Amino acid sequence: MCGITGYVGSRRDAGSLVLEGIKNLEYRGYDSWGIAWKVGESMEVRKDIGKISHLDPAAFGSSSSLAIAHTRWATHGGVTRENAHPHLSCDGTIAVIHNGIVENYQELRDELLNKGHRFLSETDTEVVAHLVEEKMKQTPDFGAAFRKACLRCEGRNAFLALHTQSQTMVAARTGSPLIVGVGSDGYFIASDSPAFLAHTRTVQYIDDGEMAVTDGRSILFYDIATGEERTKREIEITWITEQAEKGNYAHFMLKEIMDQKKSVARAVNQDEEQIRTIAKAIKNAKGTILTACGTAHKACMAAEYFFSVIADKHVNVISAGEFKLYNHFLIPDTLVIVVSQSGETADVLEAMRIAKAKGSKVLAIVNVQSSTIAREADFSLPINAGQERAVASTKALTGQLAILLLIVYALAGKLQEGKKLLLETASAINDLLNPRYVERLQHLAEILKNKENLYIIGRSWNYPMALESAIKIQEVSYIHAEGFAGGELKHGPIALIETGTPCIVLAGNDEATPDILSNATQLKARGAFLIGLAPERNEIFDEWIRVPDVGAAQAIVNIIPIQVLAYFLAVQRGKDPDMPRNLAKSVTVK
Ligand code: F6R
Repeated sequence: MCGITGYVGSRRDAGSLVLEGIKNLEYRGYDSWGIAWKVGESMEVRKDIGKISHLDPAAFGSSSSLAIAHTRWATHGGVTRENAHPHLSCDGTIAVIHNGIVENYQELRDELLNKGHRFLSETDTEVVAHLVEEKMKQTPDFGAAFRKACLRCEGRNAFLALHTQSQTMVAARTGSPLIVGVGSDGYFIASDSPAFLAHTRTVQYIDDGEMAVTDGRSILFYDIATGEERTKREIEITWITEQAEKGNYAHFMLKEIMDQKKSVARAVNQDEEQIRTIAKAIKNAKGTILTACGTAHKACMAAEYFFSVIADKHVNVISAGEFKLYNHFLIPDTLVIVVSQSGETADVLEAMRIAKAKGSKVLAIVNVQSSTIAREADFSLPINAGQERAVASTKALTGQLAILLLIVYALAGKLQEGKKLLLETASAINDLLNPRYVERLQHLAEILKNKENLYIIGRSWNYPMALESAIKIQEVSYIHAEGFAGGELKHGPIALIETGTPCIVLAGNDEATPDILSNATQLKARGAFLIGLAPERNEIFDEWIRVPDVGAAQAIVNIIPIQVLAYFLAVQRGKDPDMPRNLAKSVTVK
């Protein structure tokens, strides 16, 4: 989940280049940061705990042409300055940054301690710097020694290292993403392209089991296991990659919520032939399984209702973290649909690889087009949300819901009807997100901000949206929130309701409406403070937040006021909604 970036070439501002780059990867982790750059024949290192956003790139690494930078999401070792990357070899010529977990690090560390290496941190990463140093005693070539060190490391990892004496940068990928940016004056290597997009759109992918070695003038790729050289194509990034800017917004989260005025329509704008082909593949498949994590998993759960209600089709939804337990149901005729904003989530990637190993076909619905999932899937549909920087997923979710609904309408033989509904929904969202509406939600946040518990109920596709509402509120405001299926209340959760307990009721104007209103009445009878999110006012609601009536697309509009509410709850409680504690945007560890 950590962010990695590096540069080697003829420019003399490598330190500032990588610092600027790593700021664009801070969504991958923000426990601590660090940078190493070569000055003359020696190495300079700066690192600290906390966020990197406030640092001035200009203050770093003048007259350097080799530098690496890291932003950390802690796995091994607490959040301390000592544990921040980069980690150095004893002689100070090798610096290593890392994303992943070296699972056998304890054994390696003991071995290296016995050989006299000194460790300054508790991390698994530091063993790699010492291991390479040790390997260089027999194999003085940095790249070759690094390859040998990688062969000893177990786990899913991405390493980036520099060696001052040979002016070389080496990257190795054994499970976590790495991408090369080919500049006119050198090479960038990073865990994601936003680290260098300001400088180049020409990329080369390092695939799993491969490494890259560059001195800034040329780059060579190798198979880590065999040492054989690999040839790589240069690819131009042509998809939407506008560098996310906050503009006039205080936070990316609010900006990305507002982006939904346009992003839902972009998600709907898919190649119709491809959507029909996918619908046909679902029709012919012997079983369709949707899998994802977190918010994207809630999109899949909502889609399960879309498939049932609109296309009369049963599909299965499995949380990606549990997918392997179901692998024996997979056959070559199974279609697996994976949904992911980042396209790098470890559990989703694993699910996809399990499915492919069984011969099943995989459709990926992904936002980041350069991601591993988008590249490895048999078919891929872009969410077209534009870069999502805030940790809490907002516009990617509504895009995922729109695409899944479009596929379902195509499966029902009503693609044009679905497209019309979705474009009307996109336009309704544009109208909805007006300043008065946002103020209304800001006011509601004032009422709720000191509550300890908040419950959300829904039925049908609003049930997964109740679960998603809870995620959104929990992760940015740290208020305890839980979502329930309306029908489940009286089987346990209703015991939690006391006078004044805030409960949000997600409703539409469909066959589930009378039942969810009846569940709301049961809550009201126990003293709940009811907030209705519904197209129509109802006398039982203490507060009513109007949402447009968009039929089968209701899940898409109902989640948007919750996103705004969660945002204001965070801000009013003094929390940073863009970088909630303990979380990272791209979950590349299991
Ligand atoms: C919550 C959130 C996470 C992600 C989950 C999957 O707001 O963003 O729950 O949805 O980590 O990530 P992706 O979609 O990148 O696979």
